[in-house]
Amino acid sequence: MPNESILLTVENLKVAYPNPGARQASGSGDRHDGGPVWALDDICLTLRPGQRLGLVGESGCGKSTLGKAILRLLPKGSRVEGHLLLEGQPILDLSPGQLRRFRGEAVGLVFQDPMTRLNPLMTIGRHCLETLQAHRPQMSKQQAKERAIETLAAVKIPADRWNQYPHEFSGGMRQRVAIALALLLNPKLIVADEPTTSLDVTVSAQILDELTRLCAERDMGLLMISHDLALVGEYCDRIAVMYQGKLVELDRTEQLLSQPQHPYTQSLLNSALHLQRSAVDKADRIDGAKAPILRLEAVKQHFSLSSNPLERLLSGQAETLIKAVDGISFDLLPGETLGLVGESGCGKARSPGQFCNCCGPRRAGWSFWAKTWPVFLGPQCSDSGVIYK
Ligand SMILES: Nc1ncnc2c1ncn2[C@@H]1O[C@H](COP(=O)(O)OP(=O)(O)O)[C@@H](O)[C@H]1O
Ligand SMILES: [Mg+2]
Repeated sequence: MPNESILLTVENLKVAYPNPGARQASGSGDRHDGGPVWALDDICLTLRPGQRLGLVGESGCGKSTLGKAILRLLPKGSRVEGHLLLEGQPILDLSPGQLRRFRGEAVGLVFQDPMTRLNPLMTIGRHCLETLQAHRPQMSKQQAKERAIETLAAVKIPADRWNQYPHEFSGGMRQRVAIALALLLNPKLIVADEPTTSLDVTVSAQILDELTRLCAERDMGLLMISHDLALVGEYCDRIAVMYQGKLVELDRTEQLLSQPQHPYTQSLLNSALHLQRSAVDKADRIDGAKAPILRLEAVKQHFSLSSNPLERLLSGQAETLIKAVDGISFDLLPGETLGLVGESGCGKARSPGQFCNCCGPRRAGWSFWAKTWPVFLGPQCSDSGVIYK
C-alpha cells in the first residue's frame, strides 16, 4: 500500500546505447574500461500524480535518455537494467500492443521542436482526429472533433485554426498544438523534453504557465527536462540534477536552490547567478566619459502595406504602416557588448540590419566612430562585422 499513490517509479535504472561512441569520444574516460558505457547510471526517482519534477543538467548528461527510456523509445539493441513502473506496472514488460496504448494514453510526450513530430501535409484538425481515432475507435467522428476542439481551446488554439497546416502557425502555437496532442488522451504523465528551448522568453513563459496549469488541473504528473535551472526552478516542485549519466541531487525546489549539496549543483547555480551578476557589474562599469562607438538616434523603419500610393491618395484612405523599428536610440561604447533581446517579430534583426545598410532606413540618425552617417552608410559597410545565427 505505501506505493499506492506513486505514479512513476524509476529504480536503479541503467541504460547503455548499442553504439555509445559519442560519450567515449568526448573523453569522459573513466567509463572507457571495456564495460558498457552507461548513458544512465543507477537512476532512482519517483513522481506522484500532480507533481512537477524538473530534470536538469548539462547537454549530454542523459536527460533525454531518461525521457526516452520511460516511453520505451530507446534504439533497438540498447541495454536497459533496473525497473521502470507506471502506477506499479512494469513499463519494460509491455508487449508491442500494450506499448502503443501506453504511449499517448498513459504517457504524453512534448518535444523541443514540434515540427519534427507534426506532419507538414496534415492539418492540425487531422492530427487530432488521427490520434483520437487510433486510440479511441469507439468515438464517432463528431465526438472526436468535439474532444479535439475542446483540448485545442485549453491551450488557446481557436477552432477556426482547425483546417490550417503546421507551417501556418508560429513556433509558440505549434508547441501549443503539440501540448494539445499530448493531452488529448488524458494521460497520467507528461514528459516534456526541453519544451520551450526554441521559443523566445515571453512565449516560453506563457506555454509553461499553461502546461503546468493543465497538469495541475488534471492531476497529471509532469517530468520537465531542461538545461535551464532557473526555468525549472520557477515551474517545478522538485528538481533532479544529473551529471554524466548519474543523478547527483534531488530535492524540493526551494531547498535545492537555497542549499545545494552537490558541487555540480552548486556550480550550476553559481553560473546562473553569475550570468545575472555580470550583467549588473557590466552596467556599473560603463564609463560615461567614453565616446560611443555606435549611436542610434530615433531610428525608424516603417513599411507601407498600401500597394498603390496614387490610389490611396485619390481614395483618401490612411496609409497602413507596419512599424518594424520605431524610434530606437542607444549608444554602444568601445569594449562594450550590447545584447538586443525581445520576442519574435519585435524588430531585433532590423536595427543592426539598418546599421549595415541591409534594410535601408527611411528615417534615421546614427553615428559610427564619431562620423555621422545621416541616412545610408554606403553600399558596403567595411568598418563593421555582423554575425548572424
Ligand atoms: N542514439 C544514441 N546512440 C548512441 N549514443 C547516444 C544516443 N543518444 C544519446 N546518446 C549519448 O547518450 C548520452 C546522453 O545523451 P542525452 O540523453 O541525449 O543527453 P541530454 O538530453 O542530457 O543532452 C550522450 O553521451 C549522448 O551522446
Ligand atoms: Mg536532450
